[in-house]
Amino acid sequence: TSPEPVPGYTHDDPGLPPSPVTAADLELLLATVLFGPEDQAALRTAGEVLSGQIEQVLDVWYGFVGSHPHLVAYFSTSDGVPIADYLARVRARFARWIVDTCTRPYDERWLAYQQEIALRHTEPRKNQTDHADSVPHIPLRYLVAFIYPITATIRPFLAAGGHPEAEVDAMHQAWFKAVTLQVALWSQPYAGRAW
Ligand code: HEM
Repeated sequence: TSPEPVPGYTHDDPGLPPSPVTAADLELLLATVLFGPEDQAALRTAGEVLSGQIEQVLDVWYGFVGSHPHLVAYFSTSDGVPIADYLARVRARFARWIVDTCTRPYDERWLAYQQEIALRHTEPRKNQTDHADSVPHIPLRYLVAFIYPITATIRPFLAAGGHPEAEVDAMHQAWFKAVTLQVALWSQPYAGRAW
Protein backbone atom coordinates (compact mmCIF):
# COMPACT_ATOMS: atom_id res chain seq x y z
CA THR A 1 0.00 0.00 0.00
CA SER A 2 1.37 3.42 -0.90
CA PRO A 3 1.62 6.00 1.88
CA GLU A 4 -0.82 8.90 2.31
CA PRO A 5 -0.05 11.85 0.03
CA VAL A 6 1.56 14.79 1.86
CA PRO A 7 0.61 18.26 0.53
CA GLY A 8 3.49 19.69 -1.49
CA TYR A 9 5.64 16.58 -1.28
CA THR A 10 6.23 16.20 -5.03
CA HIS A 11 8.82 13.41 -5.02
CA ASP A 12 6.84 11.36 -7.52
CA ASP A 13 5.38 14.25 -9.50
CA PRO A 14 6.04 13.48 -13.20
CA GLY A 15 6.49 17.23 -13.81
CA LEU A 16 9.53 17.44 -11.55
CA PRO A 17 12.49 18.64 -13.63
CA PRO A 18 15.58 16.40 -13.69
CA SER A 19 18.43 17.42 -11.40
CA PRO A 20 21.50 19.12 -12.87
CA VAL A 21 23.40 16.67 -10.66
CA THR A 22 24.13 13.51 -12.66
CA ALA A 23 24.03 9.90 -11.53
CA ALA A 24 27.83 9.89 -11.98
CA ASP A 25 28.16 12.94 -9.67
CA LEU A 26 26.04 11.09 -7.13
CA GLU A 27 28.21 7.96 -7.33
CA LEU A 28 31.31 9.99 -6.53
CA LEU A 29 29.61 11.80 -3.64
CA LEU A 30 28.40 8.47 -2.22
CA ALA A 31 31.98 7.21 -2.40
CA THR A 32 33.19 10.43 -0.75
CA VAL A 33 30.95 9.96 2.31
CA LEU A 34 31.95 6.25 2.38
CA PHE A 35 28.37 5.17 1.75
CA GLY A 36 28.16 1.49 0.83
CA PRO A 37 25.63 -1.34 0.67
CA GLU A 38 25.98 -1.93 4.44
CA ASP A 39 24.81 1.66 5.00
CA GLN A 40 21.80 1.10 2.77
CA ALA A 41 20.94 -2.00 4.81
CA ALA A 42 21.42 -0.12 8.10
CA LEU A 43 19.13 2.66 6.85
CA ARG A 44 16.41 0.12 6.03
CA THR A 45 16.54 -1.06 9.65
CA ALA A 46 16.62 2.56 10.84
CA GLY A 47 13.48 3.22 8.81
CA GLU A 48 11.69 0.40 10.60
CA VAL A 49 12.90 1.56 14.02
CA LEU A 50 11.99 5.21 13.37
CA SER A 51 8.62 4.58 11.72
CA GLY A 52 6.70 4.50 15.01
CA GLN A 53 8.59 7.48 16.46
CA ILE A 54 8.45 10.12 13.72
CA GLU A 55 6.28 12.57 15.66
CA GLN A 56 8.58 12.35 18.68
CA VAL A 57 11.65 12.97 16.48
CA LEU A 58 9.93 15.99 14.99
CA ASP A 59 8.98 17.26 18.46
CA VAL A 60 12.71 17.29 19.29
CA TRP A 61 13.73 19.01 16.04
CA TYR A 62 10.93 21.56 16.15
CA GLY A 63 11.74 22.18 19.82
CA PHE A 64 15.32 22.88 18.81
CA VAL A 65 14.33 25.27 16.01
CA GLY A 66 11.62 26.89 18.13
CA SER A 67 14.02 27.64 20.98
CA HIS A 68 16.46 29.48 18.67
CA PRO A 69 15.01 32.77 17.41
CA HIS A 70 17.60 32.99 14.62
CA LEU A 71 16.29 29.65 13.24
CA VAL A 72 12.54 30.03 13.78
CA ALA A 73 12.95 33.32 11.88
CA TYR A 74 12.97 31.27 8.65
CA PHE A 75 9.47 30.00 9.44
CA SER A 76 8.30 33.52 10.32
CA THR A 77 7.17 36.74 8.69
CA SER A 78 9.82 39.35 8.00
CA ASP A 79 8.88 41.04 11.30
CA GLY A 80 9.43 37.83 13.22
CA VAL A 81 5.96 36.32 13.76
CA PRO A 82 6.07 32.48 13.40
CA ILE A 83 3.59 31.17 10.80
CA ALA A 84 1.81 28.18 12.36
CA ASP A 85 0.37 26.85 9.12
CA TYR A 86 3.78 26.99 7.41
CA LEU A 87 5.45 25.18 10.34
CA ALA A 88 2.77 22.48 10.28
CA ARG A 89 2.83 21.88 6.53
CA VAL A 90 6.62 21.66 6.40
CA ARG A 91 6.54 19.32 9.40
CA ALA A 92 4.39 16.83 7.46
CA ARG A 93 6.90 16.86 4.58
CA PHE A 94 9.78 16.51 7.01
CA ALA A 95 8.09 13.38 8.40
CA ARG A 96 7.94 11.84 4.94
CA TRP A 97 11.55 12.86 4.28
CA ILE A 98 12.78 10.92 7.33
CA VAL A 99 11.12 7.76 5.99
CA ASP A 100 12.31 8.39 2.41
CA THR A 101 15.89 8.99 3.53
CA CYS A 102 15.83 5.50 5.05
CA THR A 103 13.84 3.62 2.42
CA ARG A 104 14.02 5.21 -1.04
CA PRO A 105 16.57 4.16 -3.64
CA TYR A 106 18.94 7.05 -4.32
CA ASP A 107 18.13 7.13 -8.05
CA GLU A 108 17.51 9.90 -10.57
CA ARG A 109 14.00 10.61 -9.30
CA TRP A 110 15.34 10.93 -5.79
CA LEU A 111 18.07 13.25 -7.16
CA ALA A 112 15.42 15.38 -8.83
CA TYR A 113 13.56 15.77 -5.54
CA GLN A 114 16.82 16.57 -3.74
CA GLN A 115 17.21 19.50 -6.09
CA GLU A 116 13.64 20.58 -5.37
CA ILE A 117 14.26 20.43 -1.61
CA ALA A 118 17.43 22.46 -2.11
CA LEU A 119 15.57 25.11 -4.09
CA ARG A 120 12.84 25.27 -1.45
CA HIS A 121 15.49 26.52 0.98
CA THR A 122 16.46 29.31 -1.44
CA GLU A 123 15.03 32.41 -3.09
CA PRO A 124 13.55 30.81 -6.24
CA ARG A 125 11.27 28.33 -4.42
CA LYS A 126 11.08 29.08 -0.68
CA ASN A 127 7.51 29.79 0.55
CA GLN A 128 5.86 28.88 -2.77
CA THR A 129 4.66 25.40 -1.84
CA ASP A 130 2.77 26.67 1.21
CA HIS A 131 2.02 30.21 -0.04
CA ALA A 132 3.81 31.39 3.09
CA ASP A 133 4.47 35.06 3.76
CA SER A 134 7.95 34.32 5.14
CA VAL A 135 11.52 35.47 4.54
CA PRO A 136 12.87 34.50 1.11
CA HIS A 137 16.05 32.51 1.76
CA ILE A 138 17.87 30.28 4.28
CA PRO A 139 21.64 30.83 4.50
CA LEU A 140 23.72 27.85 3.39
CA ARG A 141 25.84 27.95 6.56
CA TYR A 142 22.82 26.92 8.65
CA LEU A 143 22.07 23.97 6.38
CA VAL A 144 25.64 22.74 6.90
CA ALA A 145 25.56 23.39 10.65
CA PHE A 146 22.21 21.62 10.98
CA ILE A 147 23.83 18.30 10.06
CA TYR A 148 25.04 18.06 13.65
CA PRO A 149 21.77 18.40 15.59
CA ILE A 150 19.86 16.33 13.03
CA THR A 151 22.41 13.56 13.54
CA ALA A 152 23.14 13.80 17.27
CA THR A 153 19.47 13.86 18.31
CA ILE A 154 18.44 10.82 16.23
CA ARG A 155 20.58 8.34 18.17
CA PRO A 156 18.26 7.71 21.15
CA PHE A 157 15.43 7.02 18.68
CA LEU A 158 17.60 4.55 16.76
CA ALA A 159 18.50 2.85 20.05
CA ALA A 160 14.84 2.58 21.12
CA GLY A 161 14.30 -0.47 18.90
CA GLY A 162 16.42 -2.56 21.25
CA HIS A 163 19.05 -3.51 18.64
CA PRO A 164 22.57 -4.40 19.80
CA GLU A 165 24.87 -1.40 20.32
CA ALA A 166 26.93 -2.20 17.19
CA GLU A 167 23.80 -2.17 15.03
CA VAL A 168 22.62 1.10 16.53
CA ASP A 169 26.05 2.56 15.74
CA ALA A 170 25.81 1.29 12.16
CA MET A 171 22.38 2.90 11.76
CA HIS A 172 23.63 6.13 13.26
CA GLN A 173 26.68 6.28 10.96
CA ALA A 174 24.51 5.53 7.92
CA TRP A 175 22.11 8.32 8.93
CA PHE A 176 25.03 10.76 9.37
CA LYS A 177 26.30 9.85 5.88
CA ALA A 178 22.85 10.19 4.32
CA VAL A 179 22.27 13.64 5.82
CA THR A 180 25.77 14.85 4.90
CA LEU A 181 25.25 13.56 1.35
CA GLN A 182 21.95 15.40 1.04
CA VAL A 183 23.31 18.71 2.31
CA ALA A 184 26.19 18.33 -0.16
CA LEU A 185 23.58 17.90 -2.91
CA TRP A 186 21.50 20.79 -1.58
CA SER A 187 24.51 23.11 -1.81
CA GLN A 188 24.31 22.87 -5.61
CA PRO A 189 21.89 25.76 -6.24
CA TYR A 190 23.65 27.87 -3.62
CA ALA A 191 27.08 27.33 -5.15
CA GLY A 192 26.24 27.33 -8.86
CA ARG A 193 29.39 26.80 -10.91
CA ALA A 194 31.47 26.55 -7.72
CA TRP A 195 29.60 23.32 -6.87
C1 HEM B 1 12.01 22.49 4.33
C2 HEM B 1 15.23 19.21 5.83
C3 HEM B 1 18.09 22.81 7.23
C4 HEM B 1 14.19 25.64 7.29
C5 HEM B 1 12.64 21.29 4.58
C6 HEM B 1 12.15 19.99 4.19
C7 HEM B 1 13.04 19.08 4.62
C8 HEM B 1 14.11 19.79 5.27
C9 HEM B 1 12.98 17.57 4.46
C10 HEM B 1 10.85 19.73 3.43
C11 HEM B 1 11.18 19.61 1.96
C12 HEM B 1 9.92 19.45 1.12
O1 HEM B 1 9.28 20.48 0.81
O2 HEM B 1 9.57 18.30 0.81
C13 HEM B 1 16.34 19.91 6.27
C14 HEM B 1 17.60 19.32 6.63
C15 HEM B 1 18.43 20.34 6.96
C16 HEM B 1 17.65 21.56 6.87
C17 HEM B 1 17.90 17.83 6.59
C18 HEM B 1 19.90 20.31 7.35
C19 HEM B 1 20.58 19.23 7.69
C20 HEM B 1 17.26 23.87 7.49
C21 HEM B 1 17.61 25.05 8.26
C22 HEM B 1 16.51 25.83 8.27
C23 HEM B 1 15.47 25.15 7.51
C24 HEM B 1 18.96 25.34 8.91
C25 HEM B 1 16.36 27.16 8.96
C26 HEM B 1 15.73 27.26 10.10
C27 HEM B 1 13.31 25.08 6.40
C28 HEM B 1 12.13 25.75 5.89
C29 HEM B 1 11.52 24.85 5.01
C30 HEM B 1 12.32 23.65 5.03
C31 HEM B 1 11.66 27.17 6.23
C32 HEM B 1 10.28 25.10 4.14
C33 HEM B 1 10.77 25.58 2.78
C34 HEM B 1 9.59 25.91 1.83
O3 HEM B 1 9.14 27.05 1.86
O4 HEM B 1 9.16 25.01 1.08
N1 HEM B 1 13.83 21.13 5.24
N2 HEM B 1 16.41 21.25 6.43
N3 HEM B 1 15.97 23.96 7.06
N4 HEM B 1 13.40 23.83 5.86
FE1 HEM B 1 14.94 22.58 6.04
